[in-house]
Amino acid sequence: MSKSFDVIVIGAGPGGYIAAIRAAQLGFNTACIDEWKNSQGGPAPGGTCTNVGCIPSKALLQSSEHFEHARHHFADHGIGLKDLSIDVARMIGRKDTVVKQNNDGILYLFKKNKVTFFHGRGAFSKGIDGGYQITVGEEVLTGKHVVIATGSNARALPGTPFDEDLVLSNDGALRVGEVPKKLGLVGSGVIGLEMGSVWRRLGAEVTVLEALPTFLGAVDDQIAKESHKAFTKQGLKIELGVKVGKVTTGKKGVSVAYTDAKGADQKLDVDRLIVSIGRVPNTTGLNAASVGLKLDDRGAIVVDDQCRTNLPGVWAVGDVVRGPMLAHKAEEEGVAVAERIAGQHGHVDFNTIPWVIYTSPEIAWVGKTEQQLKAEGRAYRAGTFPFMANGRARALGDTTGMVKMVADAATDEILGVHIVGPMASELIAEAVVAMSFRASSEDIARICHAHPSLSESTKEAALAVDKRTLNF
Ligand code: FAD
Ligand code: NAI
Repeated sequence: MSKSFDVIVIGAGPGGYIAAIRAAQLGFNTACIDEWKNSQGGPAPGGTCTNVGCIPSKALLQSSEHFEHARHHFADHGIGLKDLSIDVARMIGRKDTVVKQNNDGILYLFKKNKVTFFHGRGAFSKGIDGGYQITVGEEVLTGKHVVIATGSNARALPGTPFDEDLVLSNDGALRVGEVPKKLGLVGSGVIGLEMGSVWRRLGAEVTVLEALPTFLGAVDDQIAKESHKAFTKQGLKIELGVKVGKVTTGKKGVSVAYTDAKGADQKLDVDRLIVSIGRVPNTTGLNAASVGLKLDDRGAIVVDDQCRTNLPGVWAVGDVVRGPMLAHKAEEEGVAVAERIAGQHGHVDFNTIPWVIYTSPEIAWVGKTEQQLKAEGRAYRAGTFPFMANGRARALGDTTGMVKMVADAATDEILGVHIVGPMASELIAEAVVAMSFRASSEDIARICHAHPSLSESTKEAALAVDKRTLNF
């Protein structure tokens, strides 16, 4: 006999598990299906984000940053250390514990909110009167509404599949057993910079090969240049404008043939290679074709701006649909879909989704870059404030970078905020709030910010829009 639900969510990543919790909160009898297995074969809800993405990468970034501070910066504070070492197995073990705490936390939340969890692969079986039949192994479920949140997978280089030993996706990159002497990365995007930073801090010689001629093309030019300078100074070798050719694996490691920006043939020999060239939407095993679910030519599920698919009662959220592949974007869509199913007006503001790269310095931004505004021909005023002139940053010993604000020339509405520097990931929240309320730069300039705090740099950047900084 089939089990009936109001809402069935397929996938328990940040898009899916949050959609399921919100649907249950709204009074729906809700099921969530996820197939991810932990090392013992048990359930591991949380998706890419919890298992091989946001959470484990931040755990390793934290460990490696502690190591970097101990190695290079403690002495400035008068702290001496002898025989500093890194136990990679323990560091990876700590990361695994953090992941498990998050997996268990989600299972607890499902219980608390009365979401029925199924461990296994969910697949469409057929459409029925007023809903859909979904199978999970031997079980047959029926749901009036289905929310697909099946996420994404790492994209491999053509002809070079991931073996997760020498050629690594984000999965293998997060469980390397020892510090590679030489590490190569293909792609200087978000994963390339975060994972490159982890292993560089621990002592690897890291080279990043990037196809585009510009560094971090989506980031504001000024911020991207400042970041490039900082990473290069730290010892990250970044080669831009390359064309990666044949990748050969052997006993000694990996050899990457490539053409450099000047057109010369080059070879990079490394112990391991991380390939981080973007991700592809995942609909494997969904049996989407059986019900006629429409995909685009990238394999993403086609949705409207409300996350409705071409099938009545079927919704899709997160990495498997258009838009930025970010956990918080997936969560926002999950909440909005549950509320729309309940007849409410769920809302996601795509103009105020923040981006953060958790390197050191951190990079964070929301809204439009200066180059976008120029291309649009929109008149704007920009103000910057360097952390070098911020008392808290000096006390922290972390003065790299700046806060930059761009505002409409006529109305002064904030159009974008771009930060490279300490705690940019936290500072950006003020900018997101301000932009969500359509604040002006003058609004931020008039708000009292605690002293000494890094957030004073945001206030000063707002003052800089009007050319009246107080501390610079
Ligand atoms: P996913 O998290 O991919 O979850 C999909 C789930 O569905 C998985 O558990 C999968 O097993 C399951 N599934 C798939 N098909 C089926 C099926 N047929 N039946 C049952 N289950 C199925 N984003 C940020 O915002 N901040 C970060 O710091 C960040 N860091 C990242 C670091 C790395 C290394 C990577 C790779 C990504 C990072 N991301 C980050 C991106 C973030 O992880 C994704 O945007 C987010 O996980 C997308 O959520 P989702 O719910 O759409 O899909
Ligand atoms: P990405 O899109 O950030 O970067 C991929 C890079 O690879 C680009 O610079 C691209 O030009 C380059 N590239 C593509 N093909 C190439 C080739 N053949 N040779 C050389 N370079 C090539 O993708 P990435 O780093 O794989 O991450 C995937 C997604 O995961 C991100 O876009 C982001 O959405 C998410 N993510 C978010 C994080 C965060 O929010 N802090 C952290 C990590 C990932």
